[in-house]
Amino acid sequence: MSNLLEVEDLHICFSVLGQEVHALRGINFTLRKGEILGIAGESGCGKSVAAKAIMRLLPAHSSSVSQGKIFYNGQNLLKLSEAEMRSVRGKEIAMIFQDPMTSLNPTKTIGAQVMEGYCLHRPEIKKQEAKHYAIELLRQVGIPQPEERFLAYPHLFSGGMRQRAMIALAIASEPKILLADEPTTALDVTIQAQILDLLRKIAQENGTSIILITHDLSVIANMCDRVAIMYAGKIVEEAPVDVLFKTPRHPYTQGLLHSIPRLDTPRDHPLVPIEGRPPNLTKTFSGCAFCPRCSSALRICTANDPPYISCDTEHHVACWREHPQNPHNQG
Ligand SMILES: Nc1ncnc2c1ncn2[C@@H]1O[C@H](COP(=O)(O)OP(=O)(O)OP(=O)(O)O)[C@@H](O)[C@H]1O
Ligand SMILES: [Mg+2]
Repeated sequence: MSNLLEVEDLHICFSVLGQEVHALRGINFTLRKGEILGIAGESGCGKSVAAKAIMRLLPAHSSSVSQGKIFYNGQNLLKLSEAEMRSVRGKEIAMIFQDPMTSLNPTKTIGAQVMEGYCLHRPEIKKQEAKHYAIELLRQVGIPQPEERFLAYPHLFSGGMRQRAMIALAIASEPKILLADEPTTALDVTIQAQILDLLRKIAQENGTSIILITHDLSVIANMCDRVAIMYAGKIVEEAPVDVLFKTPRHPYTQGLLHSIPRLDTPRDHPLVPIEGRPPNLTKTFSGCAFCPRCSSALRICTANDPPYISCDTEHHVACWREHPQNPHNQG
């Protein structure tokens, strides 16, 4: 499978009240055609910032890309003018935002918003045709009585319906890449399952590549082909989903997996939370950012940031314990 998107050594800083927040500290990942890549990690680790950086939607006045490249179809999105970016955003790469209520326009009907997305890149289309398409799309994402809902405003929709409307809006222009940022967080489990089924269908039927951002590892296990685990602005481990769940290498990934209930865990087996809290991103780190919470840290972990190494062709990890220079790993 060829790469559709390549993010290389991306660093993003925010300037907040005179302080620098280093939200992304050099992330690398690729997205292949038609695959679903999961991005997981604790709150504040930089998942949404990574997605908004790809869309070039970070606030210009307070954020800066200090380093890195984002290649889509061979062009570096960070080098495009705003006008050029407008022909990529929404059309080629679309996003389902974490909070649908703040992303839907409360002053326009759902139908008008979906039609707008469809017409944006098809100025020649007739209004009646766009309306027909929008109603079909609302039906496709599971909105009942789409002809009537077409005329409704977002505040009349329930949480699940708003999320579906957001998805309809995002896929209206048939994007090549869909960035889904916690698309099911606020929804109950049955609606969550329906939305996830819908996303899977979009990937399978339209060949859309999806980046699925979630803190819920069971969603990742059910949905994704590969997964990247983020911690404090970095990707600390990446692997095909089955490999990561079977043989997690990074202590943070292992901690995340031990802290969630599983059907195959004996009932008397306690869940083990990861002690401590993620670090303050206004500080610079001399070693591994996870070190203060890591029960198996080595001396080198406090001094040097571990490089991102490949422990297999598809399995990468940033941990000194896994590094070939670690004496325990030498023959
Ligand atoms: N507009 C902004 N201005 C200043 N700091 C920001 C801004 N957006 C994000 N940050 C900071 O960047 C870091 C990463 O935030 P981000 O929203 O990407 O986290 P996240 O992994 O998506 O978390 P969550 O799971 O809670 O959604 C956090 O420290 C956050 O406070
Ligand atoms: Mg987020």
